[in-house]
Amino acid sequence: MSRALIYAANWKMHHAPGAARAFMERFLAVTAPAPGRSLWFFPPAISLGSVVAAAAGRPDISIGAQNVHWEPKGAFTGEISIPMVQEAGARVVLIGHSERRHLFGETDEQVARKSVAVLKAGLQPLACLGETLAEREGGRTEHVILRQLEPLLDKVPPADWERLVLAYEPVWAIGTGRNATPDDAAQVHELIRFTVSRRGVPGRIPILYGGSVNTGNVLALLARPELDGVLVGGASLDADGWAELVGLG
Ligand code: PGA
Repeated sequence: MSRALIYAANWKMHHAPGAARAFMERFLAVTAPAPGRSLWFFPPAISLGSVVAAAAGRPDISIGAQNVHWEPKGAFTGEISIPMVQEAGARVVLIGHSERRHLFGETDEQVARKSVAVLKAGLQPLACLGETLAEREGGRTEHVILRQLEPLLDKVPPADWERLVLAYEPVWAIGTGRNATPDDAAQVHELIRFTVSRRGVPGRIPILYGGSVNTGNVLALLARPELDGVLVGGASLDADGWAELVGLG
């Protein structure tokens, strides 16, 4: 595939530092940088340092945090700040993943606040959007996507959108083995792009698709030019399997 693609691995709560280092050793041994292909890894925060160290010398790889607080420091027990992950070598940050939104109550407003803070620090946010099954079946997909986008459009200055990457991850497709069809994904990606450009954001924003992506469906998904890459959970946990997936397309 000739266009630039991002393959993002979201390890969630898997791979402590030792396992993360072993993963990277194997993955780096069986892959080489490929033109137009960026590889992003989101290990648990405690494994950031070991993944960053392992990936040194591979300019095609960016490491990121799965979540951050918008304040640079303070009395926020259990939280982690942007300067902290930056010092650990993070260049990208996953924001508003559906598990953060649905299991931990993160709001659209907080997602926008975090995105603004990440951009201000010079890192790149990967902000996630997506509807639940009930919302899709109730015909509310468009409404939900627009509601989730609104605070981002409101708070992120148009010029900063140049560094913002979005991921469309329908909640019903995450970890369920049921991916959105390429047509369904492409349709929502277009809705997002149309909405963002109508609000005066210049250029074309990159949008990844996430939700049960695997070696069997990635080619059909990436055949749609509306998709600029994939955000992958389960299928990114095994070094050989992930190497195989990023080698497709
Ligand atoms: P999955 O997760 O690939 O296991 O469906 C995707 C995600 O949560 O980002």
